[in-house]
Amino acid sequence: MLLIGILTSLFWWYSNKKLSYWKDRNVPYAKPLPFFGSLIDLATTPMHVLELNRYFSLGPIHGFFEGLRPVLVVGDPKLIRDIFITDFQIFPNRRVFQGCPILSRSLLISEGDYWRRIRSIVSPTFTTKKLKRILGIFEDCSKTLVQNFKISAQKEKPLSVKRIFNAFVLDVTASSAFSTKIDSLNDSKSEFVQQVNKNFGIIHKSKLCLMLLFTSWHHLKNIFKSSAVNGSALQFFSDFIKEVISERKRTKQTRDDFLQLLLDIEKKSTIDNEKEYVENDDDIDTNYGENISGQNIFPGESQKNLTHEELVSQCVTFLVAANDTTASLLTTTTHILATNESIQEKAYQEVAKHLQETNGKLTYEALQKMKYLDNIMSETLRLYPPVMRVCRRAEKEYNLGETGINIQKGVVILLPILALHRDPKYYPDPEKFDPDRFSDEEVAKRDPNTYLPFGHGPRTCIGMRFAQLSAKVCLVYIISSFVIKSCSQTKIPMELLKDSYFTLQAKDVTVKLEIRKDCPLV
Ligand code: HEM
Repeated sequence: MLLIGILTSLFWWYSNKKLSYWKDRNVPYAKPLPFFGSLIDLATTPMHVLELNRYFSLGPIHGFFEGLRPVLVVGDPKLIRDIFITDFQIFPNRRVFQGCPILSRSLLISEGDYWRRIRSIVSPTFTTKKLKRILGIFEDCSKTLVQNFKISAQKEKPLSVKRIFNAFVLDVTASSAFSTKIDSLNDSKSEFVQQVNKNFGIIHKSKLCLMLLFTSWHHLKNIFKSSAVNGSALQFFSDFIKEVISERKRTKQTRDDFLQLLLDIEKKSTIDNEKEYVENDDDIDTNYGENISGQNIFPGESQKNLTHEELVSQCVTFLVAANDTTASLLTTTTHILATNESIQEKAYQEVAKHLQETNGKLTYEALQKMKYLDNIMSETLRLYPPVMRVCRRAEKEYNLGETGINIQKGVVILLPILALHRDPKYYPDPEKFDPDRFSDEEVAKRDPNTYLPFGHGPRTCIGMRFAQLSAKVCLVYIISSFVIKSCSQTKIPMELLKDSYFTLQAKDVTVKLEIRKDCPLV
């Protein structure tokens, strides 16, 4: 009894000492509970609501606790630039989760020089030049989606779009990653589709909270090993990719897909490739190109090819990273078009005009001219960023600008993307959907560090162009083929999932579709 009493008191003392971290540094913070820290708030409030509440009540710079681990939210544009770009060398990594060995080789999770090497090898596969080569894949998958949409339009039935967009994204990723053609909506018995549907997708916040809790208690962290994807699924994809590779070697076939691009990379200095990535992509702004010059983030040492495990890891990462994010963008855009008739009509007029110029053929150049559609997608990502927060971990002690806050090695910094996007200081009347916020003139007036749906700095989303281009092609097909209408089942405002920790997604979106007789596509 006495021992239990002593242990409880010790625990209480230790916990309180750790949880006074922000108080001792005069940083406003969300009040924690022993052991759980601020994670307990998630029991009653969805993460996106909590994030907005904290940002607007405590200020753009505030602390909270994941278990006993102090986390600092930094929502100040100048400091964001410092952390994510100027002082990237101090903040090159995300937090560490326990995980399976295959995913630890992935871009998402890997760290330091290992991450640099993988990123240098993989980056050149995402240049605009390479993406143009797979435009046909985006079109083929969009045609499949239109066929699937038409079935319900002909029946004049309301349609829940989320699972159809998830299927579209899976078709696109499987085709462009390893030339595996599927119609995942109608092919639900395929093992490939089943493995993805069963094992990928957002991690429920309660599971993530447990992971966070146990990783903050160093001695307990090995007890609770968990991972985003289960081991048997990884084995399935590892075997699957191995088979595709040996088939290509046997038949000497090559394909226009990521796997081939990665297989083709020979021992070579990759600094030239990285230059191509930054310099040749002048059609879509890189928001960090100029800022990292001189930092030698991707040194030009000789690189080895990816090992089989590394290759599998990247392919699985693409499936995981592309799926819910791009599908979320398409789902929320559909809701917005259904509930904003005049915006939808304007988008249709623009699409029709540029398709007329190419006799109904969707070319890369025609897509580039559809600026209003870009603005719609950008505004959707502002209001509903599929990834609402990203993090970095301090590798050294760091003084945070002029704030007087000293960040110790190991402290996690969180970029509150959603809260920044909804801050009236940067976006007046922030809840209003207004694509004109992204006209060239309006963008030029704004600090670029306040719009970050794909993250920021050298570790920004590698699939950004892939996601934008595939989603844009899909939307051109939908807008050209249908009038999207709201119906009695359309939830207004849109309902958001309450169970995630990092991502923001619609629960589902139900609309009615009317087939256009004047489809401008051939
Ligand atoms: C609308 C769609 C998407 C959104 C909103 C999105 C957003 C993000 C964000 C916010 C990050 C973290 C960046 C940071 O920490 O600064 C990220 C990282 C990443 N994303 Fe995406 N993403 C999308 C689609 C994709 C696609 C299609 C792929 C792959 C084909 C992809 C692959 C990755 C990878 C590999 C990383 C880790 C990069 C690294 O650490 O070097 N994403 N994404």
